[in-house]
Amino acid sequence: MKVKNICCIGAGYVGGPTMAIIAQKSPEINVTVVDINEKRIAAWNDPDVEKIPIYEPGLAEVVAEARGRNLFFSTDVDAAIDAADMIFISVNTPTKTYGMGKGMAADLKYIELCARQIARVAKNDKIIVEKSTLPVRTAEALKRILDNTGNGVNFQILSNPEFLAEGTAVTDLHKPDRVLIGGDLDTEAGREAIQALVDVYGHWVSDDNILTTNVWSSELSKLTANAFLAQRVSSINAMSELCEVTEADVQEVAKAIGMDSRIGPKFLKASVGFGGSCFQKDILNLVYIAKSFGLNEVADYWEQVILMNDHQKRRFAAKIVKTLFNTVSGKKIALLGWAFKKDTNDTRESAAIYVADYLLNEQAEIVVYDPKVTKEQILADLDYLGTRSEEENRKLITVVNSAQEACKAAHAVAVMTEWDAFKTLDWEAIYEGMLKPAFLFDGRRLLDKEALTALGFEFYAIGS
Ligand code: NAD
Ligand code: UDX
Repeated sequence: MKVKNICCIGAGYVGGPTMAIIAQKSPEINVTVVDINEKRIAAWNDPDVEKIPIYEPGLAEVVAEARGRNLFFSTDVDAAIDAADMIFISVNTPTKTYGMGKGMAADLKYIELCARQIARVAKNDKIIVEKSTLPVRTAEALKRILDNTGNGVNFQILSNPEFLAEGTAVTDLHKPDRVLIGGDLDTEAGREAIQALVDVYGHWVSDDNILTTNVWSSELSKLTANAFLAQRVSSINAMSELCEVTEADVQEVAKAIGMDSRIGPKFLKASVGFGGSCFQKDILNLVYIAKSFGLNEVADYWEQVILMNDHQKRRFAAKIVKTLFNTVSGKKIALLGWAFKKDTNDTRESAAIYVADYLLNEQAEIVVYDPKVTKEQILADLDYLGTRSEEENRKLITVVNSAQEACKAAHAVAVMTEWDAFKTLDWEAIYEGMLKPAFLFDGRRLLDKEALTALGFEFYAIGS
């Protein structure tokens, strides 16, 4: 079967970029991305392609090439479902904030709503693709909902988790390490559905990089990959604390161990803590699943990755307070960067949010500059924590348009996101404008310690 019409439900960080690349590489397939969020769809359709709602290097160019040709963004979910032979579900699956599994399990209500909507609308056979990250065995629940339509429609369910990282989404999608497709390998119809999706990726990904498995392995591989990646960050961050008390340097340690080909050099960068919408959510979900099968040791093992990460964020904030003579009350502290990593405007679970919250509890005045994050987003992130009133957040937080402005008359500066531009700031001028002693905290190992110390900064970097 050759796919002609694709619908993707969810025009977010995954649905938008993934579908843009599929459309770019497969001109004969019509791709319609739908969302209930009207503002988001309007932004995807903005005539000025630089105003699409997600900032990713290279994405605007891809959208400019395909949009209106075979890539469409719409709020008419029913129409897109009806027209599609293949439907990707790429809606959010956040950690539950209520009820059973609160704070741990993935909230699957958006997934279920999609399944019920597809069941209601579909009039002909369709392939449903799980693109969202889901607990292992979710396909079983989807199948039960879809098989009860009464319309005599047949559905094949595939799992096709997405491994792109934000900030490098376009290159990750153009050259994926692997594409993983899980499906029903035991039936002819299942194998045909898998082949149909293999053919879509086959437009630009070689066969060697497309891996097919059963559905459950595919679902679980996604949670496993994120757990392993996050575990590396927590492991090196644990070592960063030990380095600080032993005069070892975490960057040297990372290099030394990374040259062991069994360990490898990637994902060993000590930091103020990992953020992003995936790592914490997916590990908590893994912990929940393990617990629900009674596998308490497995659950405890992975939970430690999160506990270490929380500790790292707190420890960094506490270091600022301790260094500033045990009080930051009424002191101005500049945070450079708010996004959870460079080259994205995404702030979900960003370490900066938690460091700011800690410092605000210590009555600091916080000034933030991030090249891609809006003031509204920064305030919304803090309001969401519910630590203090919205009025108080607005009184204590200022958001400015340049790093220079943020650091003016500050007691301390903390680098929270590794934006390249922070490396080449006029640090001499920043030093001149700050109160003395001028404290600089590098939460990303971004800056040149020797050069900045020579300028006069009191310099602290994670892990040395
Ligand atoms: P997102 O919040 O950016 O986007 C999800 C979109 O789905 C939202 O715009 C929302 O309005 C829409 N939506 C929700 N319910 C809907 C419905 N019933 N009908 C139509 N639209 C609906 O989320 P995201 O970051 O794109 O993540 C989506 C999934 O992909 C999650 O499961 C996530 O774990 C996974 N994932 C994310 C990343 C990443 O880097 N962000 C990477 C890999 C996997
Ligand atoms: C992650 C996975 O990498 C990706 O495969 C998956 O599809 C979604 O989740 P993402 O969260 O977008 O991607 O970014 P990633 O590059 O993994 O970084 C996550 C966090 O870890 C960031 O806050 C980053 O700064 C931090 N990190 C990463 C480190 O602190 N040190 C490292 O060495 C690597």
